[in-house]
Amino acid sequence: MDLLKGKVALITGASRGIGKAIALKFASEGADIAFTDLKIIPETVTELEALGVKVKAYESNAADFAATETVVNQILEDFGRIDILVNNAGITKDGLMLRMTEEQWDAVLTVNLKSAFNYIHAVTPIMMRQRGGSIIGMSSVVGLHGNAGQCNYASSKAGMIALHKSIAQEMGPKGIRANCIAPGFIITDMTAALSEEMRKEWEKRIPLRRGGTPEDIAGVALFLASDLSAYVSGQVIPVDGAMAC
Ligand code: NAI
Repeated sequence: MDLLKGKVALITGASRGIGKAIALKFASEGADIAFTDLKIIPETVTELEALGVKVKAYESNAADFAATETVVNQILEDFGRIDILVNNAGITKDGLMLRMTEEQWDAVLTVNLKSAFNYIHAVTPIMMRQRGGSIIGMSSVVGLHGNAGQCNYASSKAGMIALHKSIAQEMGPKGIRANCIAPGFIITDMTAALSEEMRKEWEKRIPLRRGGTPEDIAGVALFLASDLSAYVSGQVIPVDGAMAC
């Protein structure tokens, strides 16, 4: 299938994990791929190129407003257009409220939420000129329900939902759609930090009885990026094995 043939996708934080799986899925459907990360993993570029599409990776901090403007201008110069934006870069710095530092709060809100503002701010003028585009935000089920020990992370992910819903309303008349994915427990380097005991505890709470894979998220991202979802905007799709339904 060539669901994204002729499209250019920009994915933040795609050297590994969920972002990488999305990049591979989009490339396998014919999209050219521009991706950013704090550190580029060359093997990711090689794997994407093997799918026969144009690929370029950019070392850039998504939390930095000025750097984002610069990198988006460079991507426009390199690819000529941007049709799909995936705001994927994210971090955790967990802790209970009483022990959480200002640094933990600021870092998570800046990387997870402000970065999406930075990219939407830089990319929407381009999408408006093109009269269309699809923006996807990586939220989390904890952004819908909260989570003890993650007040900073959950707040950033709830903010992602409000941000993308607002953009769906502002930009709808310009043909731009914006939606969020709310992953549950997905097995990546981010969750690898959890102990075996905590991991088992999580899995017990999942009716499908397994952690999700990055590919589970990539399938839904493809739906939201492509015309399969042409009339879907302002929505949040949980992808969590029924953990939080
Ligand atoms: P990961 O840690 O494996 O990958 C995140 C990528 O983002 C890394 O390559 C990292 O270098 C990059 N990154 C971090 N800060 C950045 C910055 N300031 N600028 C540019 N790139 C940056 O994480 P994973 O699991 O792939 O997560 C991807 C997204 O999905 C994140 O937003 C995360 O919050 C979200 N998510 C993950 C879940 C999980 O269970 N793994 C569950 C719910 C949401």
